[in-house]
Amino acid sequence: MSNDQHHNPLKTTDFVGRTSLTVARRFSVAPMMDWTDRHCRVLHRQLTKRALLFTEMVTSAAVVHGDRDRLLGFSAMEQPLAVQLGGSDPAELAAATRIATAYGYDEVNLNVGCPSDRVQSGKFGACLMAEPELVADCVRAMRDATDLPVTVKCRIGIDDQDIEQSLDRFADMMVAAGAAHLYVHARKAWLKGLSPKENRTIPPLDYPRVYRLKARLAPYEMSINGGIETLDAAAAHLEHMDGVMLGRAAYHEPMLLAEIDSRFFGEAERSSSLTAIMHAMAEYAEGELSRGTRLNNITRHMLGLANGRPGARVFRQILSVDAARKGAGPDVMLRALAEVEPERAVA
Ligand SMILES: Cc1cc2nc3c(=O)[nH]c(=O)nc-3n(C[C@H](O)[C@H](O)[C@H](O)COP(=O)(O)O)c2cc1C
Repeated sequence: MSNDQHHNPLKTTDFVGRTSLTVARRFSVAPMMDWTDRHCRVLHRQLTKRALLFTEMVTSAAVVHGDRDRLLGFSAMEQPLAVQLGGSDPAELAAATRIATAYGYDEVNLNVGCPSDRVQSGKFGACLMAEPELVADCVRAMRDATDLPVTVKCRIGIDDQDIEQSLDRFADMMVAAGAAHLYVHARKAWLKGLSPKENRTIPPLDYPRVYRLKARLAPYEMSINGGIETLDAAAAHLEHMDGVMLGRAAYHEPMLLAEIDSRFFGEAERSSSLTAIMHAMAEYAEGELSRGTRLNNITRHMLGLANGRPGARVFRQILSVDAARKGAGPDVMLRALAEVEPERAVA
C-alpha cells in the first residue's frame, strides 16, 4: 500500500478490502444539534483526518422546504461526513436523501434516537423505536433514492419496551431493509417525564445488551454510543464492536481527537499542537468572517482545547467574551493562545 493511499481518508478500500467508510466508522463523532455545525466539524478535522463526522440532525421537511445551502452546505475538508436526517414520512425522507446526496455527503443516517419534545411532535426520533415497520419503510425509501449507504442511529429501547425482544426485532428489520450500519446508543429513552438532557444521563447504560446484539448479528457492522469518555474506554468497546461513537466527550475535550488517527487508524503519530490548531482556525475564521460569520460562532466550539493546561481559564474567557465583541477578528484566537503555557516540543 502506498503511503499516499494510507493517508487519504477518501481512498476506496483499505488493505483488507473494506470500504473507506467502514474503516472511518471505527471512530465517529456523534450528531449533536447546535454543536456539530460546520465550524465545529472544521475544528474536529484539524484533530482527526480519519474519523467519521456527523452533521446535526436536519429534518426531512426542512431539507425539502427550507434553505438548503444553509442546512446542508459543508466544505470537502470535513469529509468523510454523514448527514443525519430526522423524519418518518418515507417519501419526504427519500426526497431529502436525494437532495443531500447531491451535496456530496458520504452517508445518510436516520435519527431514531432523539427524545426531544420538538422531535416527538413531528413523529420522529426515538418514538419510532416503537414502529420498526415504518422505520424499515423509511430506510427502503431512502435507499431507493441514493447510492450512498443509509444507516440508522437508535437507542436500545423506549419506555417499558423489553430491550431483548424489541431491540432484536428492530435491528432485524433494519438489516432486512438494507441499513448499512447501526449506531446504538446503549440506553433507553424515556419519552415521558424526562428532558432530552436527562435522557442522556438518567436511563442506565447497558453496554452488554449492545454487545449481545452485535454478537447475534455478526458480521453485520455496528457502533456503540453513550457515556464513552476516554480513549481507553473506546478501545475496550472495540474488542466487541466495529465502531465507537463519542458525543459529549469529543465536544468538551476536543484534544482527545488528536490521538485517534494513530491509536485507532494506524497512522503515524502526528503532532497536533494547540499552536498549529489555533493558527489553522484563525486562518479559517479569516475566510468565514469575510462571508459574514461572527467569530464566536467558531470560537464557541474551541473552549475545551486548552483544558488541563495552565492558562486554560483565561483562554476560555477570551474565546467566549472577547470573541463575542462586535468586530472581533481572528487575532482574538491568537491572544487566547498566548495565555496558555507553551507546549513542550514533541520529541
Ligand atoms: C447537545 C446535544 C445534541 C444532540 N443532538 C442529537 C442529534 O441531533 N441527533 C442524534 O441522533 N443525537 C443527538 N444527540 C445525542 C448524541 O448523538 C449521543 O447519542 C449522546 O450524547 C450519547 O453519547 P455521549 O455520551 O458520547 O455524548 C445530542 C446530544 C447532545 C449532548
